[in-house]
Amino acid sequence: MCGIVGYVGDEQALPVLLDGMKKLEYRGYDSSGVAVINVQSVVSTTGQTTMTVERKAGRIGELLDELDGTTIEGRIGIGHTRWATHGAPTDGNAHPHRDCTGDIAVVHNGIIENHDVLRQRLISEGHTFVSETDTEVAVHLIESIIESKGCSLREAVLEAVSILEGAFALVCISVHEPDRIIVARQEPPIIVGASATAGLVGSDIPALLAYTRDVIPLDNRQIAEVMRGSVRVWGFDGVEVEPETVHVEWDMDAAEKGGFEDFMLKEIYEQPEAVRNTMRGRIDGSGRVTLDEVSWTVDEIKAIDKIVVVACGTSFHAGMAAKHSIEHWTRIPVELDLASEFRYRDPVLNSRSLVMGIGQSGETADTLAAMSFAREMGTKVLAITNVVGSSMTREADAVLFTHAGPEIGVAATKTFLAQLVAANIFALYLAQERGTMYGDKLTETVEAMRRLPEQIEETLLVQDSVLQAAKRYADARDFIFIGRGVGNAVALEGALKLKEITYIHAEGYAAGELKHGPIALIEDGVPVVAILTGEPLYEKMLSNVEEVRARGADTILIAHEGDERARALANELFEVPTTKPLLSPILDVIPLQMLSYFIAKEKGLPPDKPRNLAKSVTVE
Ligand code: F6R
Repeated sequence: MCGIVGYVGDEQALPVLLDGMKKLEYRGYDSSGVAVINVQSVVSTTGQTTMTVERKAGRIGELLDELDGTTIEGRIGIGHTRWATHGAPTDGNAHPHRDCTGDIAVVHNGIIENHDVLRQRLISEGHTFVSETDTEVAVHLIESIIESKGCSLREAVLEAVSILEGAFALVCISVHEPDRIIVARQEPPIIVGASATAGLVGSDIPALLAYTRDVIPLDNRQIAEVMRGSVRVWGFDGVEVEPETVHVEWDMDAAEKGGFEDFMLKEIYEQPEAVRNTMRGRIDGSGRVTLDEVSWTVDEIKAIDKIVVVACGTSFHAGMAAKHSIEHWTRIPVELDLASEFRYRDPVLNSRSLVMGIGQSGETADTLAAMSFAREMGTKVLAITNVVGSSMTREADAVLFTHAGPEIGVAATKTFLAQLVAANIFALYLAQERGTMYGDKLTETVEAMRRLPEQIEETLLVQDSVLQAAKRYADARDFIFIGRGVGNAVALEGALKLKEITYIHAEGYAAGELKHGPIALIEDGVPVVAILTGEPLYEKMLSNVEEVRARGADTILIAHEGDERARALANELFEVPTTKPLLSPILDVIPLQMLSYFIAKEKGLPPDKPRNLAKSVTVE
């Protein structure tokens, strides 16, 4: 995710940058840094750098302590708050990054997918790299273009963006052009603007709001030149375009949440992007899964004879769904353990086992302890987490980062979808390397995954139906959620979301278990949420829905678009697009996240900060 700020104008840049970075800290808080050019001291003839860069791991407070009240003179600068993707959250990996001369500085949000190839090329040309980040290739590439062509910073960035692959919002300054900031966008958002006395850049509106309410959100594949009082914009084809200005009425609180009332809702809406980022660089053009993070040989992968998934809460539900994909695609047996139970049950593990820890925060004490126990037993350990540098990454032989960006709402939403996607990619990778899936089946599944971001966008359109159901059932005392197969994981997750943010009693059950006890809870008007998308068990699910209806339940059904049989049995119907059955939790859970959110709002409860809960649970 990452937060970017840029300023050029009449004021001292540093306070403006720090103020903007504080407002964007919700976008990343692993490290922060600034680069400021002091125009008075430019000594271009000697090549002496006149750019001051300060960077520090940790929250912005750490950078402020480092600066300790010292001012860096200069009226142009860029700043960054980092959410690490490549390279640990250290001082050295913090942005801005500079070229070999120290004259150009760059901050970046996104992932440069061809960074490895470019790094090798630039090193062979004599460039020296000092960080582990993908970002550093961008600044050396720009330097190399300027060196060979003698062009302007803008022209160099324009050429660089045709070479860089992946997603980037790039913001650059150079001591040789100390009156302008060059900005490029390929996917991640970046906003520019100008007042009579300043030119401004921010990855989100809060960074600009104190200086202007007229902003220009750059379109995808555009470059901007931001100066005091003016903004010019070009397409990546080099053709200048008329920028479109948007007038913003939001106050600062609304702006931080992107206009949403709460971070939870914002994060629900960020799910298409989160899933795109989880997949990025992991499926190549020919449909092969490439996981650079996993360095086990094919023989080692073939030797795995059991996988044990350990996780807690929502992450456990991601593991529960992943068990189905892994077993179906790879034929490796999967055990699923609540991390808090795992160590104490004397599990059977050996060097052929793989323990897979899943956790958004990477700090859950129970999951960490389970992974550490597994290491002691000599098993392979894989971590799936969202936080680079978290404790979980130190307990693992291989780490798959979910790249969902920071999640502020306590209830996990976008990190859950990202975990499901990461676990499914890993399952496909195992199947590919072990040769347990026919090529056309693999390609078909990969294609279905590629369609997911758009299908998630489509699923989000269910909001109005969910809102109506939330109003109707906000006062319910109990809720029952049922599903079969992967739908069972969705049912459990739906019940957990509802409990944690609405405080309504909710039970998630495998639908077939209902008749063994919980059906006694059904009486007139009890809402039963049923997941009807799982192809192989559809008829059985319909029977379960009939059973609860016969006993007076109100049914809230998640079904495929156009499912008339479901419609006929539903008091409320949430329609979702069709994907491969094993991928269906990625879509099915979205209406349930929304249902919890809107019921919490109906009840006047704070969705972002449910009582008694914390974002990371660091005690056993
Ligand atoms: C629920 C939720 C929790 C976490 C659980 C594990 O919305 O967020 O149930 O899933 O506390 O946390 P992580 O995933 O950080 O290990």
